[in-house]
Formats: sequence, structure tokens, C-alpha cells
Amino acid sequence: MQETQRNLTHKGKIALANEAIERRPESVKNGSFRLRYHLMPPSGWMNDPNGLIQWNGEYHVFYQHDPFQPKQGPMHWGHAISTDLVHWTHLPVALAPSEPYDCGESGGYGCWSGSAVDDNGVLSLVYTGHVDGRNPVEVQCLTTSADGVHFTKHPAGPIIPGPPEEGGFGFRDPKVWKYEDVWYMVVGYGKDGLGKALLYASDDLRKWRYVGVAAESDGTMGNMWECPDLFPLGDHGRHVLIVSPMNMGAAKTLYMTGDFDYGSGRFHRRHYARLDYGFDFYAPQTMLDSRGRTILFGWMNIWGARMPEQAEGWMGAMTVPRELTLAADGTVRMLPVPELEALRGSHTAIGGLEIDADTFIPLPEIRGDTLEIIAVFDTAASDEAEFGLRIRCSEDGSEFTEIVYRKADRKLLMDRSRSGIGDGGVSEVPLSPMEDGRIKLRLFIDRSSVELFANDGRITVTNRIYPDPSSTAVRLFARQGAGVLECLDAWEMKSIWPET
Ligand code: FRU
Repeated sequence: MQETQRNLTHKGKIALANEAIERRPESVKNGSFRLRYHLMPPSGWMNDPNGLIQWNGEYHVFYQHDPFQPKQGPMHWGHAISTDLVHWTHLPVALAPSEPYDCGESGGYGCWSGSAVDDNGVLSLVYTGHVDGRNPVEVQCLTTSADGVHFTKHPAGPIIPGPPEEGGFGFRDPKVWKYEDVWYMVVGYGKDGLGKALLYASDDLRKWRYVGVAAESDGTMGNMWECPDLFPLGDHGRHVLIVSPMNMGAAKTLYMTGDFDYGSGRFHRRHYARLDYGFDFYAPQTMLDSRGRTILFGWMNIWGARMPEQAEGWMGAMTVPRELTLAADGTVRMLPVPELEALRGSHTAIGGLEIDADTFIPLPEIRGDTLEIIAVFDTAASDEAEFGLRIRCSEDGSEFTEIVYRKADRKLLMDRSRSGIGDGGVSEVPLSPMEDGRIKLRLFIDRSSVELFANDGRITVTNRIYPDPSSTAVRLFARQGAGVLECLDAWEMKSIWPET
């Protein structure tokens, strides 16, 4: 860090960050992977959604941000607002590393992930101060704002000065909520190879007492739980705990449904599953809105992946906002918020048709890199076949992303091995047809992403793809037997950004 920058106040650091964004390179503005209707950084790097809140009638999304470069560096909090969850306005950077507990000289440091609450009209952000090499590396911090734009760090320093015991792995990502006049916080942690969610309580957001371990891994759920989020869902007092476990193989996020006991501070798990089955879904966070909806955003990338948009001077995006509901069988369903229908432009409907074995049916009337598609297949009328869609197809058919249902073993797959220049790989998930024998695939396609909501939100698969911009065709296909498409609806999606 340059000597001149080291001594800047928080305000000075924010000013530098905002100037960097003003100067953003042309390559960002013209980037062919820039998304049309997803939230992404104006320039530089984005990871986790932070501080989701509806405050004074506006939805706020903060996010992990490096405004200076398209890779992870000293973490700031970027900030965007919306009145409809669809159209977003970027605001000035909200937080910058500036204090001994969130600002270092080199290595990893910054204002790491956290959450937002409304404290009697004061927008309050609780985040992790992280400084590599400091002891402790991670502490929990508070910053407040009266106008929702400019934030002041708590003058007394960290509100939780370190983990409750020695020898843990990580201590970060506070998610705060209020219940019966008491503030509660879950913090991500790991000890003895087990990911854990620690629980704290406070009367004033400033002095916190450690309650205990609210939940922990059963030994198979990773050794550190990043970004825990604990909240009630549905009408029967059930709770859901979402975590992003480190070192759990292919499973990058988990949800657990169960009961939370405020008396003991323990969450009792009844059921758990992956929250999303794609490669690019991590560190999700939820907020409760004024209509009582639980709305989730996830980071639509994953650590360690190839990130082709870095070459354009930016990196990272949020998923579309998704509403969570609890089904009668205790599983969580996730569907895009209905507000997104406002982006639907020209519509094409295709009636029922049988796709013969080993054939492709081109759909020339549906073309593009910014589409919503709903395709309903009748599995009962289909052979023991594999059928589905190829999207983002090149004219010669060599490039495509395949979404296929395999009736024989009831698997849904998204194959991106021919999707372009990003990572390949096949996302695979067991899926039974719905009660009526149908498989319903709802796809949100943007210029470098695909989000799949199957069977009314029972399963989601989120992936980034990086095809050539000219690859815009859509094809139906069946293999090893005939498949029956009942109907297909497609809409061109409008852009929310002036430049894409
Ligand atoms: C999750 C995470 C968090 C951390 C943040 C740092 O992606 O590793 O645990 O707070 O990113 O940017």
C-alpha cells in the first residue's frame, strides 16, 4: 500500500474507491460477458451478497467488492438499491478497510461478509474485520448510517473482539436478527474438523454475550461453515439454517430445516439437502421483506473457478432474487421473484410435439443470449429416453449447453462441457417427475449465466457459461427413444443496464 494511502480515514478510502469506479476501463463497459438483468459490480470484483435489507422502502444489496481490480483483494462493501428487486442503482462504496482490525499491509484483509439490520431507523451493518497475520485474524464489527449511504464505524472498535476459544478455524460472516427485543447473531466457525454456527445475543447491538454452538456438522458437512443464515420459514415456526461449508466436495451450500429453541440456543436439524446443484452458487443470504417474503441472493460464482470475465476488467454477479418457501414435506423451494416478469419482452409459444429418437428440433423463432424459457415435458408419454434442450448453440452445433432429463434413472443434468471458454463439467441431480408425471424446466439465461428452476423450485441449478456471443440458437432433442414436449414458452428478457 502506498504511504499516502495508508493514513487515509475511512472517508478518504471510500473516496479513492469511488474514483476507481469512475475511471472504470472501456473493456468493462463493452464486455461481451456483461449480464443484462443480473446485479454485477460496475467495475472490479464482486463476491458474497452482504447486508440484504429492505430499508425505508428500498431493497439494499451490499456485496464483497474490490473496486480496484477484477480479483479478490482488500475487501470493500459495494452497494446497490432497488425499489422492485429488478432494476438496480449503484450507490457509492459503503465500507472500505481503514482500521487496524480490518486493514492490513499485504495478504488478505478488509471488511468481510456480514449483514444489515434496522436499529430504530439507523441502518446498521455488522461485518467481519479480517487481517491476515493479526491476532485474532477475525473480529466482528459494527457500522451505522442515518441516510443509508454514508457509514461510520463504531468508535469503540470491534463489538466482538475474537472467537470464544482458542484453536478454531475461521470466525466470520455475522448474520444478525431481532427476536422479542433481543438481537441475535450467528457466526461461521470451525473446530476439530467440524463446521459450526456460533450464537451470540445482545440488547443493544454493541455488547454481545456468547450463547454457544447453535448447530454443527455431523462430520460430513465440511470443516468450517461460511455465511450461516438462520431464519424462520413457513407458518409452523420451522427454522432454516443455510451454510456454505468449506471442504465438503461438490456440495457448496447446504440448507437444514428444523427447530430453533431460543431457550437453549440450539437448532435441531430434521432434514438437510444441497440448496443448489450448480457449480456457481455460493454464500447466499436472505432477507425478510415487508410482504413477509424470504428473499435470497447468492453469489453466482465459485472460488477457484476460471473466471473469463476478468479479462474484461470485472468479475462476479448475483443470482436473480429468489423467494424461499417451505413445502409440506419439509423441503425448501426456491423460485425467482414474480417481479422479474416485468422484464419479459417478445413471447413465443410452442405447442405439444413429439421429439423423435435421436433428432434435434431447431427453434428458429427463439434465439438469444437473454431469455426466459419454460419447457414442460410429459414423462409418462415419453419413452425411457433422454430429452431436453440445448441453449446457446452455435450455428454449426459444436457449441452448446445441454439441459437434459434422463427418464431411466430420473436424473436432471446440465452439461457445460461444450459451453465455451469457462470451466466445463456436468451438474447432476436426482429429480422425480411431479405428481402429474411432468418435468417442468424454467430457465433464466443471461449473457454468461444459466439458472435452472426445475419442478416449481424443488431443484435449482446455477451455472456460469462463456460461449461465443454468436451462439444464440435453441434446440430440442431426444435420445434413445422419443420425448414428449407438452408446451414451451419463451420470452426475450429486457436489459436493466443502459450499456448492455
Ligand atoms: C465466502 C467468504 C466469506 C468471507 C468473504 C471474504 O465467499 O470467504 O467467508 O467473509 O468471502 O470476501
